[in-house]
Amino acid sequence: MVVTGASRGLGRQIALACAGRGARVGLLARSAEPLQEVAAAVAALGSDARAWPMDVRDAAAVRATVDEVIARWGRIDVLVNAAGAKIEGPVEQADPDDVRRLFEVNCLGPMTLCQAVLPHMRRQGCGHVVNVSSVLGKRATPMRGAYAASKAALNALTDALRTEVRGTGIRVTLVCSGRLAPGSTNGLLVSSEQGAAERIVRCIERPSREVVLTAAARVLVGLNVLMPGVVDWIVTRWRTGEERS
Ligand SMILES: NC(=O)c1ccc[n+]([C@@H]2O[C@H](COP(=O)([O-])OP(=O)(O)OC[C@H]3O[C@@H](n4cnc5c(N)ncnc54)[C@H](OP(=O)(O)O)[C@@H]3O)[C@@H](O)[C@H]2O)c1
Repeated sequence: MVVTGASRGLGRQIALACAGRGARVGLLARSAEPLQEVAAAVAALGSDARAWPMDVRDAAAVRATVDEVIARWGRIDVLVNAAGAKIEGPVEQADPDDVRRLFEVNCLGPMTLCQAVLPHMRRQGCGHVVNVSSVLGKRATPMRGAYAASKAALNALTDALRTEVRGTGIRVTLVCSGRLAPGSTNGLLVSSEQGAAERIVRCIERPSREVVLTAAARVLVGLNVLMPGVVDWIVTRWRTGEERS
């Protein structure tokens, strides 16, 4: 399998959780040193891993990396697009260059990875693409408009792709995550990175079309369908409370 964003956070946890189940893991991110550390941790679990430092915004590097993975292991069964970036601030003050870079990482990056990997999955007649998005891609909140927009774009690409590969044996899962925290404590509002990774690994084992992580995120998504005006009110109040504290 190939995991982007594997140098830290959720991507790292997914790589470790999959390695614990015997997967051979290609680790992708920009920072070489942390990637090597993750590769060593995977090796300690008795699995095979290799670090491929690269930038998901660089289409040529993405294609070259996928070619190297195929040359090494012959196939790619699972692609997890977990690399992501974020910016915060009001829409009125968003810097277009920052927003462009954000879209390049959060939306075009996964698309480029899919374009490089899918021909191999089609040849294999099977495969699974897991795109890690955010609940904010379903319902934006104040100060996170650009991030939410980049994730909403990823959601749309993922939904379209799922229908485009129907019948090929390739599965596509959208993961809409709520807030994650390092460590192992799971709660209503926040999920641990470890808990989220375990949930994602379960959906690799038994594919589903979509996973919404954290109970609070599921409530937000449901409520937003039924009463979007009430959600406007809640997220505005929430933000005001955060600013005061
Ligand atoms: N944490 C949360 O609360 C939360 C909530 C909802 C959704 N998510 C989503 O879950 C995913 C993982 O989040 P996280 O909190 O674990 O993120 P994180 O700790 O900030 O890690 C981001 C990962 O992406 C890699 N990355 C960033 N830009 C890259 C680029 N241009 N090319 C290649 N790799 C790049 C980083 O490695 P390098 O810097 O070494 O490149 C790192 O491995 C993201 O897609 C995020 O949007 C997170």
